[in-house]
Amino acid sequence: MKEQKTIGIGFIGFGTVGQGVWKHLNAQRETLEARLGVKISFPRIAVKNINRKRDVVVPAGVLTDDPMSVVNDPAVTIVCELMGGTEEAKDYTLAALKLGKVVVTANKALIYKSGRELFDAVSKFGGHYYFEASVAGAIPIIKTLREGLVANRFASIAGIINGTCNYILSRMEAEGKSYEEILEDAKSLGYVEQDDSLDLDGWDAFHKAVILAFLAHGKWVSEDDALVEGIRQVTLEDMHRARDFGYRIKLIGMIRRDFKTGAMSVGVYPALIPLDKTLARVDGVYNAIKLSGDVAGTTILIGRGAGRDATSSAVISDIVDAMIGIRDNAHKFLTKQDLEACKRLGESARMATMDEICSKFYLRISVVDEPGILVGVYNVFAQNNVSIARVITYEHPGERRGTVTMATYPTSEAIMEKVTAELEALPQVRTKPLLLRIYESTRE
Ligand code: HSE
Repeated sequence: MKEQKTIGIGFIGFGTVGQGVWKHLNAQRETLEARLGVKISFPRIAVKNINRKRDVVVPAGVLTDDPMSVVNDPAVTIVCELMGGTEEAKDYTLAALKLGKVVVTANKALIYKSGRELFDAVSKFGGHYYFEASVAGAIPIIKTLREGLVANRFASIAGIINGTCNYILSRMEAEGKSYEEILEDAKSLGYVEQDDSLDLDGWDAFHKAVILAFLAHGKWVSEDDALVEGIRQVTLEDMHRARDFGYRIKLIGMIRRDFKTGAMSVGVYPALIPLDKTLARVDGVYNAIKLSGDVAGTTILIGRGAGRDATSSAVISDIVDAMIGIRDNAHKFLTKQDLEACKRLGESARMATMDEICSKFYLRISVVDEPGILVGVYNVFAQNNVSIARVITYEHPGERRGTVTMATYPTSEAIMEKVTAELEALPQVRTKPLLLRIYESTRE
């Protein structure tokens, strides 16, 4: 009988996700070994503190506090970079790729920041980089894009890709509690990234959207070319007003591509989603991604977007793919050919201008409550040729202020920026109006 190959898996970082991967991989080990016809070993695990108590028991002698010793260990073929951060993680990833090894990661911030350099290293040195777990937790979105839906070009990819924000918004609405109150809870449950701006200001979702945009359209998008807004400005009042208009507010990532003009756009922002759409009904830490393909039509994937087990599930899926690649000496991801194909895709794409990015909009305008106030507001819209679809005004008894909420017909980002500035300049308008986008679904 042919001797089975042993594939060594090393870890750099062995926190919540690392231990989850270890636990579930060990639980499935026999089945996977039988299925793949290989032997799995865990030669080395790099941790910050060797003596720390852990949820899983690892064999003596496996732990080290030197990540480079994992990279350089000849028995390690697959390096799981699960330490997070963008500086050291990059050094170890590059070092492993330069040795032609496979790196598996969930590190979306690193891919956003240094993806080009890491991918160049893949092309140059023949290593492989797998990152299914970097986008949307357990949802196999990268596999879906590259395999299941490979026949498609995607005019739009839209989704809820930050579990923390979805959790906060869902609970605010369900319990009628303020953003601050639910945020405190989410922090105490460990749902919020250490740098909370990553979640709350939309950056984590943006990093994920950039990865999807690259895979779908071959273009690296930078923050200077994108609209990125978080959820800090969304109030409970906005949620109620959105309901009155027939919507729920969700933080979404939106990637659009016009295949006629080549224009593409990437944005992350709180959007009003029509109540009858699937995305509007996805709550808690769940993520959902809706892909509009020119061949398959609409496909929606829903699943757990964050947490130890959800992320472990995606990391293990990559490890299994990597093991098949090593066994057969034929990796599916990420290869030099992939990168060249992506480059070609990207050649026909350009970033859309603010005049080209269009949608319906929602505005919340706080005004001094006096007769004739709406005339000035309406004039701004009329002068900018923006058609108003709906208006609801609210009084605040006992106060000399009112709230005007509006939904527009489709218009451009550029025009709405002007409208908002002109509204803010009106003497009767008390503060900068809140501007949110209204999500319009294609076929669903
Ligand atoms: N902070 C991220 C989220 C973790 O909430 O989605 C998973 O990427």
